[in-house]
Amino acid sequence: MSDALRLGLNIDHVATIRNARGGAHPDPARAAAMAYEAGADGLTIHLREDRRHIRDRDLEAIRLASPLPINLEMAATEEMCAIATAFKPHAACIVPEKREERTTEGGLDVAGQHNSIAPIVRELAEAGSRVSLFIEPDPVQIAVSEVLGAPVVELHTGKYAELWLEGGEAAAADELERLRVAAKEARKRGLEPHAGHGLTFDNVKPVAAIAELAELNIGHFLIGEAIFTGLPAAVQRMRSLMDAARKELAA
Ligand code: PXP
Repeated sequence: MSDALRLGLNIDHVATIRNARGGAHPDPARAAAMAYEAGADGLTIHLREDRRHIRDRDLEAIRLASPLPINLEMAATEEMCAIATAFKPHAACIVPEKREERTTEGGLDVAGQHNSIAPIVRELAEAGSRVSLFIEPDPVQIAVSEVLGAPVVELHTGKYAELWLEGGEAAAADELERLRVAAKEARKRGLEPHAGHGLTFDNVKPVAAIAELAELNIGHFLIGEAIFTGLPAAVQRMRSLMDAARKELAA
């Protein structure tokens, strides 16, 4: 299970910069094409209800620009479900969404919202998308994800990243352990665990070393880093840190 770990590049914030001025530059579709050449394994885009970054017309443009599989993040609403079932992305990741938040804060409460999430999981799966649920690394949320029939859970690493920022690796150790236990629990239940949020060159290796994880989705840091080094160099460096973590695990 310590095979290569997939890197999904989240390109939302290319669109954030574009939208700051209006117009068409920088174009997230161009980032999608570059991501493929740089060695990313997939693209993640979040069509938020307020369209603050990715816009509806970006979906098809991104698909045309890159052969990489698309993971569409979406709120569990009728509007998003209609868009996703028409667009039919490779994967659809259901995330919690609040208008006032700056980014996706906390995981989806699949245990508390089981009844409203269940039909959306079903519709997305019927449309052919691989459904993923963005949850906290919590055994109850994992158990309910299994009941909901989602094949994938994405574990929220936001708390881990925040703790790392405050006090480095030692401060984040307990949360890392929670991620480890959750990834194991997901595998035990037949789910494929992914992880993401707030990952950087500094904090990615301990997460990448969790053998059960199949994919990391990383955006804000890499798009920020691309300002200084270019997108291909940023993606390649992240890729090599992830590969190094997996190699150390196998050694
Ligand atoms: N995974 C999910 C489900 C997310 O909502 C986000 C943020 O959009 C990410 C991963 C990427 O987080 P970050 O931009 O902090 O790397």
